Amino acid sequence: MSFMEKFYLKGKKAIITGGAHGLGAGIAEGLCEAGAEVVIISSSNRCIEAAERLTKAGFLAHAVQANLMKREEVEEGFNKALGLLNGKIDILVNNAGIQRRHKCEEFPMEDWDDVISINLNAVFQMCQLAGRVMLVNGGGKIINLASMLSFFGGFTVAAYAASKGGVAQITKALSNEWSGRNVHVNAIAPGYMDTEMNVNLVNDESRNTEILGRIPIGRWGTPEDMKGLVIFLASTASDYINGAIIPVDGGYLAK
Ligand SMILES: NC(=O)c1ccc[n+]([C@@H]2O[C@H](COP(=O)([O-])OP(=O)(O)OC[C@H]3O[C@@H](n4cnc5c(N)ncnc54)[C@H](O)[C@@H]3O)[C@@H](O)[C@H]2O)c1
Repeated sequence: MSFMEKFYLKGKKAIITGGAHGLGAGIAEGLCEAGAEVVIISSSNRCIEAAERLTKAGFLAHAVQANLMKREEVEEGFNKALGLLNGKIDILVNNAGIQRRHKCEEFPMEDWDDVISINLNAVFQMCQLAGRVMLVNGGGKIINLASMLSFFGGFTVAAYAASKGGVAQITKALSNEWSGRNVHVNAIAPGYMDTEMNVNLVNDESRNTEILGRIPIGRWGTPEDMKGLVIFLASTASDYINGAIIPVDGGYLAK
C-alpha cells in the first residue's frame, strides 16, 4: 500500500451524529468523498434529505432519526445505524451539538440540562456504544467535536463551555484506555464557523467585525474546512495521533 492510500476510506463504515446540515454535512460529505459509507443521525427529518442528496451524488449514505437528548434514543439510534451498516462500524463522528446563551446568574437549569445531555452525555454514550463494537472487531476511529470553548470560558455560554471542556477530557480518558487496543479517539476544535449555530453573530455587524479581527486568516470557517482533518483522523494515516484536541480555527487560538 502506498502511503497516500492510507488516507482512503474505501469500504469503511461511519456513523455521524448531526450530519444533516452545518459542519456535520461537510464532514459527512468529506467521509463519503474519501470512500466511506455513512449513516447520518439527527433529531429532525433533515437527515433523510441529507442522505438522499449524498445518495444522488453517487455515495453510500443512510439516515436515522433520533433525539440524542433522550438516553434511550441514543442507544436505539446507534443500534439502527449499526444495523444499516450490517453490524460494522469503523468511524464514529460525534458532531451533534447545541448552544444556549444566558448570563450565569440567569441560566435556566432546563437549558443547562439540554446542553449537557446532547453535547456531553450523548457523546460519551455514543463513544461507549461504538467503542464496544470496535474493541471486539479489532479497532476504529472516534472523532469528537470540541470547540474553542474547550479552552476558554467565554461569556453567556457556561453550559456549552462546560460541555466542550468535558468533551476534551473524555476524549483523553477514552484514548488512554482504548488507543492500545487500536481504537483511536481524538477531537476537533473548530473556531468560528459560519453555520446556523452562529447566525446571530454573523448577522450582528459589530460582533462580526470584532470576530473577524481576531481570526488571522480573516474569514469565518465553513463546513468544507472540516473535511481535511476529519478524513485524516478517520484514516490509518493518523494512527499515531491519540487523545489530541486539534483546532480548525484559521489561527484563532494561536493569536
Ligand atoms: N459553528 C461553530 O462555530 C462551532 C464551533 C465550535 C464547535 N462547533 C461544534 O460543531 C458541531 C456542529 O455544529 P454546527 O455549527 O454545524 O451546528 P448546527 O446547529 O448547524 O448543527 C447541529 C447539528 O446537531 C444536530 N442536533 C441538534 N440537536 C440534536 C438532538 N437533540 N439530537 C440529534 N441531533 C441533534 C442537528 O440536527 C444538526 O445537524 C457542534 O458540536 C458544535 O458545538 C461548532
